[in-house]
Amino acid sequence: MSASRQHDGVDGAVLMQRIEALAAISESAHGLTRRYLTPEHRRANDLVAGWMREAGMSAHEDAVGNVVGRYEAERAGAPALMIGSHLDTVTMAGRYDGMLGVVAGLAVVETLSRERTRLPFAVEVIGFADEEGVRFGSTFLGSRAVAGTFEAALLEREDGDGVSMADALREFGLDPARVGEAARRPADVLAYLEVHIEQGPVLEAAGLPVGTVTAIAGASRLALTIHGVAGHAGTVPMAMRRDALAAASECVLAAESAARDGDRVVATVGRLVVSPGALNVIPGEVTFTLDVRAATDAAREQAVAHLEETFAAIAARRGVELEVRRVHDAPNVDCAPRLMDCIDRAIEAQGLRALRLPSGAGHDGSAMAAIADIGMLFVRCEGGISHNPAEAASAEDAAFATRVLLHAVRNFDPASPGAASDPESRERR
Ligand code: GLV
Ligand code: MN
Ligand code: MN
Repeated sequence: MSASRQHDGVDGAVLMQRIEALAAISESAHGLTRRYLTPEHRRANDLVAGWMREAGMSAHEDAVGNVVGRYEAERAGAPALMIGSHLDTVTMAGRYDGMLGVVAGLAVVETLSRERTRLPFAVEVIGFADEEGVRFGSTFLGSRAVAGTFEAALLEREDGDGVSMADALREFGLDPARVGEAARRPADVLAYLEVHIEQGPVLEAAGLPVGTVTAIAGASRLALTIHGVAGHAGTVPMAMRRDALAAASECVLAAESAARDGDRVVATVGRLVVSPGALNVIPGEVTFTLDVRAATDAAREQAVAHLEETFAAIAARRGVELEVRRVHDAPNVDCAPRLMDCIDRAIEAQGLRALRLPSGAGHDGSAMAAIADIGMLFVRCEGGISHNPAEAASAEDAAFATRVLLHAVRNFDPASPGAASDPESRERR
């Protein structure tokens, strides 16, 4: 038994073993890829549900495929403080993005359970089914279902193989007509807390293992198609071509130059598919994605509008056709001041200063904010690298973050202003 375990029941080695066990559940033999509603998603849910039960929780899978564990309050049926993160990954992912938050929540409940401590509120740990949006293009599917903001039209979305979300849910053993049943009432959720790796370099540069998140940046995602004319690479003069890839390339560069430091506008084309994709054929069609984020919703909207206009002008000048679909929009969301204070105090109680920082990445808290106050704790990651197999966080930092979370949970005041006491004002937000 390590010193840290004797001290407070939080063992970094156990956190890391669980992260490794989840990282072993991958669709691909090389690297970690685990998308929504795949057999690997099923295995990850089953593994986490088993850990939840071992930790003294009841566990179930909800109607959208989230795995949910509940550690009962002093009084059965009391509203819950929810702790969570996601169990899906990007393609060729790191092993901490999402999973760290789930195993940290589990470790907090394990400690409470081992001590036989019951709190005046229940503690629920949730492993969200889809945060990355890799399979169907739209993100936060798990947390949006819990927040009651999942739109039924999403069920028609198809993955890259033409499988609709509705069919994928059926294949997974769920009923698409019942996804709405995953929604929780605001009165039953006191607040939502999430531990997540920073995915950036700020904490490392500050020499701190953790930091308190102030806000989560919004994002817009677009799916675009350029229809040109395929032709013979040897015979069609350059001036007579309608090359879809040449047009898309101009769009990619326009997106890069739309980025502005002042408003922290960032624009990324992360996927581009060229058809027919042959060495001696002028590209006839290109589909690509655009992801835009900024410090404010207004700056993001302005950047998207500017890029839509620019892309249309590029297409018109090159005689190709452009189709644009908005597939995702999430506004910027602030963390609740009372939860930031609670997390600051928990960090200070471990003997460190509390650094506050915004999140440029999206998180499930962004969707959960529709029904509850949210708070987030970031954990230092090596070199700020994420969405990359090289993503790394240390066992010490993971254990430190879990201790901070444990302290915040023990000291969470369910009756403080802004708790679920005023769900109507939150719904109007
Ligand atoms: C989620 O990882 C995002 O794209 O921000
Ligand atoms: Mn991610
Ligand atoms: Mn994440």
